[in-house]
Amino acid sequence: MSKILIEGGKKLQGQVEIGGFKNAAVAIIPAAVLAGDKCVIENLPKISDVGALSEILKNLGATVVQRDTNTLEIDTTNMKQCFANYKMAKELRASYYLLGAGLGRFKRAKVIYPGGCSIGTRPIDQHIKGFEAMGAKVTIEHGIISVEAERLAGAEIFLDVVSVGATINIMLAATMAEGNTVIENAAKEPHIVDVANFLNCMGADIRGAGTDVIKIKGVKSLRGCNHMVIPDQIEAGTYMIAAAATGGDVTLTNVIPKHLEAITAKLKEMGVEITENGDSLRVHVCRPLKNISVKTLVYPGFPTDLQQPMSSLLTMAKGTGMVTETIFEGRFKHVDELKRMGADIKVEGRVAVVQGVKKLMGAKVCASDLRAGAALLVAGLMAEGETEIENVHFIERGYDKFEEKLVNLGASVRRIEE
Ligand code: EPZ
Repeated sequence: MSKILIEGGKKLQGQVEIGGFKNAAVAIIPAAVLAGDKCVIENLPKISDVGALSEILKNLGATVVQRDTNTLEIDTTNMKQCFANYKMAKELRASYYLLGAGLGRFKRAKVIYPGGCSIGTRPIDQHIKGFEAMGAKVTIEHGIISVEAERLAGAEIFLDVVSVGATINIMLAATMAEGNTVIENAAKEPHIVDVANFLNCMGADIRGAGTDVIKIKGVKSLRGCNHMVIPDQIEAGTYMIAAAATGGDVTLTNVIPKHLEAITAKLKEMGVEITENGDSLRVHVCRPLKNISVKTLVYPGFPTDLQQPMSSLLTMAKGTGMVTETIFEGRFKHVDELKRMGADIKVEGRVAVVQGVKKLMGAKVCASDLRAGAALLVAGLMAEGETEIENVHFIERGYDKFEEKLVNLGASVRRIEE
């Protein structure tokens, strides 16, 4: 098992290039099943979730060639079914996209009940509601979800909860259903648009992605295409927070500032200087930061995936801050670890009240999930002395080359193998 050691107190300075969006990549790779052809996907982050999905597709009969570090050539021509290997799929929440892709292409699919970060119950009732509305039969036995349809017909689906996963999964299944599908109360995250663009490039007919009403006209077949994944707004937000947390001066390249509006607004509210310049953005701290309130919301609100790193930043801001997590009920597991470093945080249900302290002290801490790991990285960069972070594998699920990127920005970060 690896651990990360951070010697805190160093300002991050310089330039960091942001990689492709993990949450777009883990939907686009399964979506390639629908093509039944060769797709070339560029700007993929080199993270364990992408590697796991590549292995799952290979196990299903696809050919997956690593053209270069961030480019995969995926040929799904010879796939005959979409019954994902249980062992491989159970670690990865995004394996559930194989249900929508398998249903769309083969009219059936089987996937183990999804795993993923332990940040709440994470039901999939809205995915099932969409599949059943299109005429599929969904059964869950011994932890395996099976979907099957004699005939897949377009349907009007109103999501009871704004769900990224359900929106994407229904969109995948609807691409080759007979007739039109309308998804109402759809999620509007940038990666919904990225997945829709990929599917339309394959020959699908999807309109309205990025709004809360998405219309999909079923087509007879799809074909292979080339696609470049959008930049990762959560990786970008994490480095913006880390720059602010260390009082640094960092320029992020390969970003889409529009996707970062919520985090930019909150950091500016704290007193951070942020300047945008095309596809780059500079984060510069010139004065002591003041505490603020943050409430997670669906896009374009403040992203829940940045709540944990943001909580770390607030621990040393002047005054009292408040973090309200409206999306996942179990997303405060990092707080106990921050308290071990001297943070003053009280959690009541979905609200954490943060009292700014003069300093954090380095400590041995443990990541409980991907973004909790990011929160502990930020805290370790801020703290006096050495912080040791366990469960680095969580961080590797979503942050490509994070040690290298932090060291290039002047941080003292190294890995030890236990
Ligand atoms: C995706 O998870 C992301 N994961 C999450 O990122 C992200 O936090 C989340 O969207 C919200 O933006 C991937 O893309 C792989 P949801 P997903 O369905 O699709 C409830 C990270 O750190 N809900 O939008 O699972 C659900 O309980 C990960 O990168 C239902 O009730 O999230 C939650 O309260 C963590 N029924 C809310 O909706 C359903 O059928 C939003 O969940 C589905 C969801």
